[in-house]
Amino acid sequence: MTKNSLKTGPDELGYYGAGTSAMGGMAVGETLMPALHELNQGFEQAIKDKEFLDEFAYYCKHYIGRPSPLYFAENLTKELGGARILFKQEHLNHTGSHKITNSLFQVLLAKRMGKKSLICESGAGQHYSATAAVAAKFGMPLIGVMGEVDIARVNQNIIKAKHYGAKLKAVSGTLKEAITDAIKTWTTNPDFAYICGSVVSAHPFPKIVAFAQSIIGREIREQSLEQEGKLPDMIVGCVGGGSNFAGAIYDFLDEPSISKIGVEASETAALSNGTPGIMQGMKTYMLQTDDGAKSLGGMSLGAGITYFSVGPLHSYLKDQQAVTYSSATDQEMLEAYKIIARTEGICSALEPMAAAAEVIFRQAKDKPKDYTICLSLCGRGEKDLDTIQEHIGKDFERTI
Ligand SMILES: Cc1ncc(COP(=O)(O)O)c(C=O)c1O
Repeated sequence: MTKNSLKTGPDELGYYGAGTSAMGGMAVGETLMPALHELNQGFEQAIKDKEFLDEFAYYCKHYIGRPSPLYFAENLTKELGGARILFKQEHLNHTGSHKITNSLFQVLLAKRMGKKSLICESGAGQHYSATAAVAAKFGMPLIGVMGEVDIARVNQNIIKAKHYGAKLKAVSGTLKEAITDAIKTWTTNPDFAYICGSVVSAHPFPKIVAFAQSIIGREIREQSLEQEGKLPDMIVGCVGGGSNFAGAIYDFLDEPSISKIGVEASETAALSNGTPGIMQGMKTYMLQTDDGAKSLGGMSLGAGITYFSVGPLHSYLKDQQAVTYSSATDQEMLEAYKIIARTEGICSALEPMAAAAEVIFRQAKDKPKDYTICLSLCGRGEKDLDTIQEHIGKDFERTI
């Protein structure tokens, strides 16, 4: 890795970039510092341990079902009449999203570090059900913290996590409040490992989650070369905290010829509409009041992308102009859902439909036919069926 590589960061204090514009860090109280340093040390040791990495690779393959397929969406490509569209099918992983790869990595790490109990937060419940599955597999108790608003809309993941033996703690609000509460519990319980669900929070979590999810991009590289004879020209993914997209692009960060577009929900588009600030342990773009005292932001239909902030790696990549960030509305996400369901027979989660909307409505049509766009399809739609029925159910009523 060279010094000028976009993959060099973060530094030992967790900063991506240098000087006043650096993003990330460890903006936490002194009670949490020892736990973060212990975790960083545990991580750095683990990734030099071949046996540990082999164990991770074994369960990625045999438990999760990796590599997830890279699939040529032929019907969608024909319908749009432009670029060749490939789906990175992370929704086919065990538990239905990209989240389980990160859960697996962090639970194995917690086990290696001798931790006895697990705590996690979740927005869409995907990270909760994924961590609950892995916790059951490795016999560790788990508490999941979720906001009441989210609990009401992604019920299936919560039922599944219950079946896997996990306990749920409800807090008022959404993902932001859940993260705050999970970290508080972790701070007061040294036997707990906090299994962070995205490339967010204080160092070393963004580094750890990006490391675990970077398998997505390495698979894209190998599969695209094998199946298409070349690398994709563009990679597009949705961004809540930003873990699926970070994973998809990480391996390509030093290849500027590959365009990269991250898509947030328009109601919580921290990178498009926010300003740098410090909350939840990190310096990053966020939606906040002018004095930085309070977070802002509305609600998106995509529970997992309803987050007022974003991982610091993405803030750094935005400032470096290495990656483009845009946003999609609920209406666009629902339209993209309908098009993908109709053309490809895939019931996607709503979060990746933000990225699909960018591809369908803004990117694919005017590109030449040999231009390939890789879309991170990072979750399956079962958790969102009630929401989808409520908003566009009538569009699917067909009687003979
Ligand atoms: C299906 C799905 N996609 C995307 C996300 C957003 O997370 P991230 O931005 O970390 O990939 C979530 C979060 O819960 C999710 O469940």
